[in-house]
Amino acid sequence: MRPAPFTFRDPRTQPLPDTDEFRRALASDWGPVDRTATVAPGAAAAAARHRADLGAELPGRTLVIASGRAKVRANDTEFDFRPDSDFVWLTSCLAEAAVLIMRPAAGAHDAVLYLPEPIGPGTPGFSADPLRGELWIGPAAGLAEWSAALDLPVRSIDELPGALDALPADAWLAGADEPAIGDRFVRPAELAIALSAAKLVKDDWEIAQLRDAVDATVGGFRAVVAELPAAMDFGGERWLQATFERHARTFGNGVGYSTIVGSGAHAPTLHWTRCDGPVRAGEVVLIDAGVEARTLYTADVTRTLPADGTYTPAQREVHALVERAHREALAQVRPGKTFRDMRSTAYEWIATGLHELGILRVSVDEAMSPTGQQHRRYLPSGTGHHLGLDVHDCARIGDERYLDDPLRPGAVLTVEPGLYFQANDLTVPPELRGIGVRIEDDVLVTPSGNEVLSAALPSDAAGIEAWMRG
Ligand code: GLY
Ligand code: MN
Ligand code: MN
Repeated sequence: MRPAPFTFRDPRTQPLPDTDEFRRALASDWGPVDRTATVAPGAAAAAARHRADLGAELPGRTLVIASGRAKVRANDTEFDFRPDSDFVWLTSCLAEAAVLIMRPAAGAHDAVLYLPEPIGPGTPGFSADPLRGELWIGPAAGLAEWSAALDLPVRSIDELPGALDALPADAWLAGADEPAIGDRFVRPAELAIALSAAKLVKDDWEIAQLRDAVDATVGGFRAVVAELPAAMDFGGERWLQATFERHARTFGNGVGYSTIVGSGAHAPTLHWTRCDGPVRAGEVVLIDAGVEARTLYTADVTRTLPADGTYTPAQREVHALVERAHREALAQVRPGKTFRDMRSTAYEWIATGLHELGILRVSVDEAMSPTGQQHRRYLPSGTGHHLGLDVHDCARIGDERYLDDPLRPGAVLTVEPGLYFQANDLTVPPELRGIGVRIEDDVLVTPSGNEVLSAALPSDAAGIEAWMRG
């Protein structure tokens, strides 16, 4: 006998009667609800400036930018939705499945935002649609509320197919993949590059968002320090990770990237996001964590803390070498200098430190040559990056401009040298094996030099010990 055909029904929904009686029972006697669109003060004006900047770079070009959809976690569950950064930069809208269309008009671009409005009383979807029905998702902003808050024409996503059909075939696509658009337009490198280039210098509003993200991150590090005894007692690395993430969710949107907490022999692993080890007295704990603000700008800060409040002599020595490289690299962050200047300086001082420890068996000059790079065994990563809506911001601009364009006031970058001595690295003296140190700060280029936005966290060992004592 042939098996009966399998039909899938979304188990979240239960069949509802498709009758006038039921529709009447649901349609009326609902009081008013709050459908305010949540948009931070100044965000709409910032997005308007960003659209004008991008439009000026690409006159005559039609642009389509999508916010994206929540990613599937497993089966029919999804990760929390986080909109595409380019879409957010151009709209300040955080809605899912939304699409911005920018069409060239006289001297500028006209912008229209398409988004799925919530379904309120009076339509069956109110109770039947788990994605848009307000009995499922709660009262949400509609088209009029979004339009007023974003100062932008907003239309229903139901009108998107017609709008797309009316666009020229050579429109350019950016942002997240969007099933309603598919691959009907090209996604050229020029557009990705233009977006990255336009973000190299942050405006005052963006800098204020980054300051908020960094300040919340400093608070998160404080919360983590308060929990070190509990981590040593029972909770381990994961207790500290969860402490930071609770703080980030409470005071921001969440974390801007996967939190790294590595204690003891885990500290030298660059991306120790498993965070499943213990925290023991006598170890250093490397914590690389950033709060993403509610406007989605993120911080990215690392400190390497003594679990019990005091560095051992070996840890202190390694920390001092990283701190020197960090300080020297920071001094390179100013207008006219380049990202490459900062990076080369950090590498050179790290190589010098390795030489002083007797670990680097070649000269610093040889290590710094393009074919040598022996110090990179102990520092496999870069030493910083631009920071913004993306933790690794402006990354699609291409190496040449990223590394060699002079830094301009308003650029925000991280400086993050480190030394990572794996527990099984036989080139390292036994007393230094299993020590990993990174110091990472978020730095604003100012007209006369720089401002370390994360300076509330001390970066030298004595300062960190004093700060931990409170
Ligand atoms: N944790 C990511 C970074 O520091 O770049
Ligand atoms: Mn970083
Ligand atoms: Mn980091």
